[in-house]
Amino acid sequence: MSAPANRPIGGSDIAASEFTQLRDLLYRESGIVLPESKISLMVSRLNKRLRHLQLPDFGAYFRYIEADQSGEELREMVAAMTTNVTSFFRESHHFTQAAQTILPPLLERVKAGKSRLRIWSAGCSTGEEPYSIAITLLELCPEAARYDIKILATDIDPHALSRARTGNYPAGLTKGLSDARAHKFFDPIEINGNSAWRARAELRNLITFEALNLHQNWPMRGPFDLIFCRNVVIYFDETTRSQLWQRFAHILTPEGWLFTGHSERLDAAAMRHFALDGITAYRRHGAHNQACPIAADATPRAMPRAMSRATCTPDAPQSSTNHITRGYAP
Ligand SMILES: C[S@@+](CC[C@H](N)C(=O)[O-])C[C@H]1O[C@@H](n2cnc3c(N)ncnc32)[C@H](O)[C@@H]1O
Repeated sequence: MSAPANRPIGGSDIAASEFTQLRDLLYRESGIVLPESKISLMVSRLNKRLRHLQLPDFGAYFRYIEADQSGEELREMVAAMTTNVTSFFRESHHFTQAAQTILPPLLERVKAGKSRLRIWSAGCSTGEEPYSIAITLLELCPEAARYDIKILATDIDPHALSRARTGNYPAGLTKGLSDARAHKFFDPIEINGNSAWRARAELRNLITFEALNLHQNWPMRGPFDLIFCRNVVIYFDETTRSQLWQRFAHILTPEGWLFTGHSERLDAAAMRHFALDGITAYRRHGAHNQACPIAADATPRAMPRAMSRATCTPDAPQSSTNHITRGYAP
């Protein structure tokens, strides 16, 4: 049974009605589903925002977001609620499969000037995933900079993206990165007296980091040869997941690849477009033979008034949409 609407719940100082309001806002904006069992998570994450804004309670915080026409606090709320856990070469079988079977023929075509190569890390968090993709590419093709090869890395969380853009990783946060790869692709640096690694320019130059909410308009037209969307949709509901998989199908090249996280599976509707070909690796069917069921800017559900404005984050200047469109148009 739910708690009375005005009573604090979960041993916290948030009323049930306030939790519901903020949870619904989070869902409508990001697709992230927060069960009641995560009340204390919400309280601990958003308490920092309350303190920062000097607001007395979560009701006042909800009203503040509603009144904020810039959409900035809505973005801050979503960012605070995202889970950014990641690591280099996480679920390494995808990188092995890409290096051994998928990328070599694609790179041959690129080197022969017959095509370009576009890879999208959707939900890239602090960058470990796109940097791992860039390392994989450079190991196969050290002269990648000479060719039309680009990695787009996007996330809804502007703070994670800011960290990703620096390419700086404290020495203790390089899980999955071997010593050999660290020395080959990163420079040892110091940050506030602590040792860290900085991604070399050859890695950083392959990647464009941009803020993008997967549930809003995708300004880039693609097509992409590979999409990594791993450990992102686990926080979404089934309908939202299925719609996203199908949108990916329509922005992939014929026979392009979609990699998902270890606990994420395509449903029957999405599998009309894909065949499983590896561990959580899906290959699109050769031709776009089905009418696209989802418009490019479809959202999984109606967006309330305040929601539809939060496409670009403070970190993503006004020009970012054009930037994505420029770099990733056919
Ligand atoms: C757990 S991390 C996964 C990082 C990486 N893909 C990996 O597998 O290691 C999930 C990321 O998805 C992002 N995310 C959640 N909802 C999103 C949305 N609606 N649009 C874009 N990114 C989203 C979060 O900000 C977070 O950085």
